[in-house]
Amino acid sequence: MEIKNSRWITVSKDTGDIAPIFRRVFAAEKAVEKAELTITALGVYEAELNGRRVGDFVLAPGWTSYQHRLQVQTYDVTDLLQAENDLRVTVGRGWFRSPMPGWIDGEDKRRRYGQPCGLIARLAIRFSDGSEETIQTEQDWQWAESPVRFSEIYNGERYDARIEPDAWQPVKPLDWPKDILIPQEGEIVRETERVAARRIFRTPLGETVVDFGQEVTGYVEFTVQAKAGDQIQFTHGEVLDADGNFYNANYRGAKALVEYTCREGAQTWHPRLTFFGFRYIKPISWPVEPHADQFTAVAVHSDLKRTGWLKSGNAELNQLFSNVVWGQRSNFLDVPTDCPQRDERLGWTGDAQAFIKTASYFFDVEKFFKKWLHDMAADQYESGEVGQVIPDVMPKDGSGSAAWGDAATICPWQVYQTYGNKAVLNDQFDSMKKWVDYITAATTMKDLWTGHFHFGDWLGLDAPSGSYKGSSREDFIATAFYAHSTELVVKAGKLLEKDMAEYETLHDRIVAAFRRTFPEYKTQTEHVLAVHFNLCEDRQKTADALAEMVKADGTQLRTGFVGTPYLLHVLSEYGHAELAWDLLLRREYPGWLYPVTKGATTVWEHWDGIKEDGAFWSPDMNSYNHYAYGAVADWVFEQAAGLGHAEDKPGFSELIYAPHPDPRIGWLQAKLDTRRGTVSALWVCGADGVRYELQTPVRTSVFLDGKAWSVEPGRYTFWTSSEQ
Ligand code: BGC
Repeated sequence: MEIKNSRWITVSKDTGDIAPIFRRVFAAEKAVEKAELTITALGVYEAELNGRRVGDFVLAPGWTSYQHRLQVQTYDVTDLLQAENDLRVTVGRGWFRSPMPGWIDGEDKRRRYGQPCGLIARLAIRFSDGSEETIQTEQDWQWAESPVRFSEIYNGERYDARIEPDAWQPVKPLDWPKDILIPQEGEIVRETERVAARRIFRTPLGETVVDFGQEVTGYVEFTVQAKAGDQIQFTHGEVLDADGNFYNANYRGAKALVEYTCREGAQTWHPRLTFFGFRYIKPISWPVEPHADQFTAVAVHSDLKRTGWLKSGNAELNQLFSNVVWGQRSNFLDVPTDCPQRDERLGWTGDAQAFIKTASYFFDVEKFFKKWLHDMAADQYESGEVGQVIPDVMPKDGSGSAAWGDAATICPWQVYQTYGNKAVLNDQFDSMKKWVDYITAATTMKDLWTGHFHFGDWLGLDAPSGSYKGSSREDFIATAFYAHSTELVVKAGKLLEKDMAEYETLHDRIVAAFRRTFPEYKTQTEHVLAVHFNLCEDRQKTADALAEMVKADGTQLRTGFVGTPYLLHVLSEYGHAELAWDLLLRREYPGWLYPVTKGATTVWEHWDGIKEDGAFWSPDMNSYNHYAYGAVADWVFEQAAGLGHAEDKPGFSELIYAPHPDPRIGWLQAKLDTRRGTVSALWVCGADGVRYELQTPVRTSVFLDGKAWSVEPGRYTFWTSSEQ
């Protein structure tokens, strides 16, 4: 990488919270054939050449495990070049220097916060006469204070539009490794949609609030006519309280504040070096009476290609689908995060493994996850343990958890399953195996996973009072995932033509030990895992028992992060599709449609984030944009619409079509752009039966009405005279 010939540069004195701007002025007097800027920073940067923005990557260089891997971006800047040039780069704290995570203090966090900002760049110009010139970050660059007076992930951005950088000073070389530099691996983070303010109103408390009608991640762009020195200040929120007042206590330590000092005249601005998760903003200070048309929410996230669509005859279900998609969009900002608003916004491994299948249906996430998994491998402990969050910014106390660390096996396997490309398994195999080896070495009882910290069935509704952990036994969950991960290592290893005999034996032993130790299943989640991971002796019997338990619980789910993603699958795969539909269509708490009835535009962390009477869950953990329970959408694609594939036909190279229609929603349409072409399926329930329309680009096994047969690629219509 030629950029390694450039030097890391930094400021010559501490600027505190103020983001520096670096510059290099140079001439390019001959006709230019091509000019390319290769660049990255310690922090997040935005570059401009002759006053014009370079590229459209927001929050570059993205978020990686910076001590091991830092992405470098390359931009074609041929059209921006002139005879006299001024290249400027503003560098904000970004993920690199923000104090993350917000709610934990510690030495490591303080060290990261204290790190220097840095820039490394190389501009390669090829002139039409064949000659070349290279401009590299060196001591001949300069820096000044930028108008960005403060920028940080959780707390927001402060900008003084009156400031024109001056007092340029020479930069200092920075001693920072270059072997961490890697070419851009992930998707580009871009502005993907502009959402106009829907209304502006005064709350009962007399505060002015702007409502965008949709929770998004990104920032607000505003236009204002002002006098130099006028102050603008606004903060962000996701919901209104029971009285209709602005609320954001659930952001916890994250101030999510924008402060802007106006210059004279008309101006349009938005933050550039941070982001927020929000549906509402509350202007705290504003020059004159604000109007809705002054505000636009700009959605920012990894620019993934959309590949999956769901639509039904039920408006609330359609809103749920929209909420899941927005939940993904707003939490796939370079890293799969738990939530985009409070003082977390972290790559929680448990959430990612729960949601990845749904994610891979709605959008093409192959590249996105490959990058994140490389970070996981880079951050994995020597012992093989996987941290709670990736990039791992947690205190290094080695407290990975079952179902969280298992993202190391589940995520690569799912990427392979959806896209059919073994490369991800090849890349991750060592990491997958190390995770299983870690458990084998760490457990206190052979062939089980015991004696370790776990998050349990996080947020399970059967939790004892005062606990976030459902009642499912932690050793049960841990051992079930140990078995599952070992099985995935075996499958991956075999595909890579490795001898997996040792791990096959290990898997057999874990299953035997599991059966001996846990002859009975006590909770919904325990039943779900025993069936879904093929651990119980009689899956049908166990699924039937689960169905009985769900009914005895009032036809309500009690599962948390661990059991919920598989719950409906287990029910419908073993003859309880109607019950699965009952759960999905439930409009009361707890159920997927309850938040929809409360106006949700993304998926909530808690089923009752807003209770019937409008009261909130406690602010200490109440996000309105947590994708984990949105994982139900993969059930809708696979079981409800019926589009699946066998494990040995990854990438939908052959299709299984086995829909489970339900007259309550009238009709359901699913479309998937697979690597083999577009698959679409529709069923419509009518008075005398169900009509099915299937378009398939591959050979397909059809299961309808208790019969099975195969069809070649094409378009088909089928009828059944009674619903299943
Ligand atoms: C996060 C979760 C995460 C959990 C760990 C929470 O604070 O927001 O989504 O998985 O901690 O149990």
